[in-house]
Amino acid sequence: MQILVCGGAGYIGSHAVRELYRAGYEVLVLDNLVKGHREAIGDIPLVEVDINDKPSLEQVFQKQKIDAVMHFAAYSLVGESVVEPAKYYHNNVLGTLNLMEVMLSYGVKRIIFSSTAAVYGEPVELPITEEHPTRPTNPYGATKLAVEGMLHWFGQAYGLNYVSLRYFNAAGADVAGDIGEDHQPETHLIPLVLQTALGVRPEIKIFGTDYPTPDGTCIRDYIHVTDLANAHLLALEKIINEGGSAIYNLGNGSGFSVREVIQVAQEVTGKLIKVMEAERRPGDPAVLVASSEKIKKELGWQPRYADLKTVISTAWHWHSKHPDGYISK
Ligand code: UFG
Repeated sequence: MQILVCGGAGYIGSHAVRELYRAGYEVLVLDNLVKGHREAIGDIPLVEVDINDKPSLEQVFQKQKIDAVMHFAAYSLVGESVVEPAKYYHNNVLGTLNLMEVMLSYGVKRIIFSSTAAVYGEPVELPITEEHPTRPTNPYGATKLAVEGMLHWFGQAYGLNYVSLRYFNAAGADVAGDIGEDHQPETHLIPLVLQTALGVRPEIKIFGTDYPTPDGTCIRDYIHVTDLANAHLLALEKIINEGGSAIYNLGNGSGFSVREVIQVAQEVTGKLIKVMEAERRPGDPAVLVASSEKIKKELGWQPRYADLKTVISTAWHWHSKHPDGYISK
C-alpha cells in the first residue's frame, strides 16, 4: 500500500512518515519545503509540490498509485493566523480543497486529516470530548474546522472515508534523536524552554501568571509526537479495513502548567532555566485538557510515552544534539 503524506517533511508529518515506514508501508512524501525539512525524511521519496499547485498535484496522482493520503500540510501559528487570515484560508482550506478534488478525480477515497484542539475555542467543560461545542477563537482553528466540514459533506456526497485527529499539544521527538521539532520561528513552549537550557536563548518568558490555575500559569495537555503518529496508523487501518469516518481527540488527559513544564525540563537537563514573567499572550485559554477515551475505546490507541518527563527527555535528546535544529532551513 502506498501512502501519500502531504506535509510529511514537517514536525508531526515526519514522525508519521517514520512510523509508517517502520510498519512496512510504502511512503511518498509531498511537501513544498517551506516549513518542512528534507533531512527529516532521510531517503524516503519526496515530491516537492505545493498543495496550491493543482496541475502538479494531478501529475503526482497520475504517475503514482496512491491508496490513502495523510494530510499534515498547513500553516499552524495561531497568532499569525489572526494577523494574516487570508494566508491561512488560502493554504489550509483552498489547498486542502485542491488536494481532495484531485484525490477524488483519481478515485482515492481515504484521508487522515491533522486537525487541532483549536477547533473548540474557549472550553466550556473539561476534559474536552469530541462532543464539546466547536467555536474557534482564531482563524487557524476556523480553517481546520472548515476542512472538517468539507470532509463531512464530501463523505456524504462522494463516499470519502476520513479520520480527523484533533491534536492537543504535540511535543517530544523520536527516541532515535535524529528527527525533532524545528519551527521557524519557534513559538512552542517545550522547544523554547530547552533552547534556553542550551543557552541558545537567554530566558523563557512565562506568558501570564494570573490565570485561574493552581500556580497561575496556563495548563496544557502534552502528547508525544510518536504517540500521535501511531494514532494515524490506527486511523489508517480503520479506514482501510472497515471504511467509515470519525473524529478523535488526541491528548494524554492530564494537564501541566507552564511552570511545571519548566521544572521538569530543569530536572531532565540538569540546567537552571532562567524565567521571566511576562504579560498574557492574547487568545490563550487557561486550561486545555483532552479526553481521548473515544480513540482508546474505538481504535485501541494507547500512548507509550505519556509521562511528561519522557516527553521532555526525548525532546532534549533531539535539541541537545541539534542546538540549531536541522542544517537546511
Ligand atoms: N508559553 C509561554 N512562553 C512561551 C511560549 C508559550 O509561557 O514562550 C505558554 C503559552 O502561553 C501556553 C503554553 O505555554 O500557555 C503552551 O504554548 P504553545 O505555544 O506551546 O502551544 P499552544 O497551547 O498555544 O498551541 C498548541 C498548538 C496549536 C494548537 C493549540 C491547540 O501549537 O497549533 O495547541 O490549542 F492550535
